[in-house]
Amino acid sequence: MRVAHAGDLVLVITTDLKTFTIRLEPGSQLQTHKGILAHDQILGQPLGRELQTHLGSACLVLEPTTHDLIQALKRRTQIMYPKDIGYVLLRLGVGPGSRVIEGGTGSGGLTLALARAAGPTGHVYTYEGRPEHSRLAQQNLARLGLDAVVTFHVRNIAQGFDEHDVDALFLDVRTPWRYLEGVEVALKDSGVFGAFLPTTPQVSDLVAGLEAQGVFANIEVEEIVLRPWKPVPGRLRPVDRMIAHTGFLIFARKVTRDAVEADYWADRRRRKHEEQRTLEDEEEDMD
Ligand SMILES: C[S@@+](CC[C@H](N)C(=O)[O-])C[C@H]1O[C@@H](n2cnc3c(N)ncnc32)[C@H](O)[C@@H]1O
Repeated sequence: MRVAHAGDLVLVITTDLKTFTIRLEPGSQLQTHKGILAHDQILGQPLGRELQTHLGSACLVLEPTTHDLIQALKRRTQIMYPKDIGYVLLRLGVGPGSRVIEGGTGSGGLTLALARAAGPTGHVYTYEGRPEHSRLAQQNLARLGLDAVVTFHVRNIAQGFDEHDVDALFLDVRTPWRYLEGVEVALKDSGVFGAFLPTTPQVSDLVAGLEAQGVFANIEVEEIVLRPWKPVPGRLRPVDRMIAHTGFLIFARKVTRDAVEADYWADRRRRKHEEQRTLEDEEEDMD
């Protein structure tokens, strides 16, 4: 059975459902609204147990997931929601050994998830124009012991990216269509481009930019809607309020210029959209 060691990160949940992510150090203490928990009470114990604070209040000690770590980040910027981050990892194909570029770093929410997925053999190169944002993200990642997997660049991505032939490149900035030349240079052929944007005019500008760049195929626009439910067996139903919108996710594959220009691909795209239009017309006729 695995027990907690000095240096481990653990998640503590108190009975008022407050959560604390702490790194275990002999002699240290966690102060909570429900009393003090000594790290020594956790050290040497298997995780998943209930312990008591000095006031006799119960708390759970668990191994934190990537989701828990994202929720616990200190932030100066809006960070991406875990529902979007999880899907982005799948779409970008990030796994151990992947080399990924990210712009902008923000508070490091996505950086954290990319680093956990790509490390320890892969690498994340993250770009941020505002030094104070990059500093906080560096502190956040260092606290989790993930900084060795990440290179932090502090500069505007309008100046391009230093790396080449990366497997994936993701932008969470306001005007990603302005940086597609840099994306083309940095991303390997067949690599995945992704972006997160909150409004539809921004999505239109990006899709138009991707088409105009002439090296992107399989352009897709998606949105993830997560509806939490109340986990009460006798009254199981969705919660009353939910986050209805975070943003749109846009993905594309980088291919060679001749592949994008080939007539048969243009033809297939046209036919696919025409088929779609026919279906929409039929639906309108039935109304
Ligand atoms: C919404 S935040 C990114 C949040 C991040 N994805 C997360 O999950 O924590 C956007 C960041 O991009 C940075 N940014 C915007 N335009 C940029 C540019 N041209 N070059 C570098 N960073 C930029 C902003 O300063 C901001 O910190």
